Amino acid sequence: PQHKPLAGKRAIVTSGPTHEPIDPVRYIANRSSGKQGHAIAAALARLGAEVTLVSGPVTIADPRGVTVRHVETAEEMRAAVLSCLPADIAVMVAAVADWRVVGTAGQKIKKQPGEPPAPLVLTENPDILKTIGHHEQRPTLVIGFAAETENVEANGRKKLAAKGADLIVANDVSPDTGIMGGDRNRVRLISHGGIEDWPELGKDAVAERLAALIAERLNQGKSD
Ligand code: C5P
Repeated sequence: PQHKPLAGKRAIVTSGPTHEPIDPVRYIANRSSGKQGHAIAAALARLGAEVTLVSGPVTIADPRGVTVRHVETAEEMRAAVLSCLPADIAVMVAAVADWRVVGTAGQKIKKQPGEPPAPLVLTENPDILKTIGHHEQRPTLVIGFAAETENVEANGRKKLAAKGADLIVANDVSPDTGIMGGDRNRVRLISHGGIEDWPELGKDAVAERLAALIAERLNQGKSD
């Protein structure tokens, strides 16, 4: 039916940050409220998709009508996403930490009076979007986000190619935009077919429009 254009389609959405432990009480992370990713998961579900939301640690509620898998780290997020394949749609909104700590301490690291802090040794995390974009069970539509503070378009185009995505939703998250943690967003859609600028909208409205665009593209049977 017209109002459930994604009925029978499976979608995976990632949202929120990941936390990469340093020791049992400390971690490194990116800033992310999860608002945009959660809104997209809910919007896809409203169009009839069977949605699994893989969420990092957030303080917002699980959206309605969606299966939620809660994870902490990038490695856990990657495993959860891969376990959801095959799927028709992947929307990777999570702000995954690029690095994790090598040799996470089992006990709280104590300050040593008069000594400098021990350096943190980091290693790269898996790129979940890139893995999905090049996977043998690649979903029909693979969508990434690009939170940038400069050169939004150029970086978005690079990401489209490098990650094997059909669409990159780029936004400027410079501190003066108020986008990070806020309820509004202004995005630029970068696909192989061109660029589309959306006006500033609430994150729910961005989610709604993106879900409609996903339905349109899937039902056209092409990805750009
Ligand atoms: O490279 P960058 O982190 O800017 O790319 C952002 C996009 O890639 C987002 O869609 C994000 O969810 C995804 N990503 C990912 N795994 C990573 C890093 C980013 O899925 N390790």
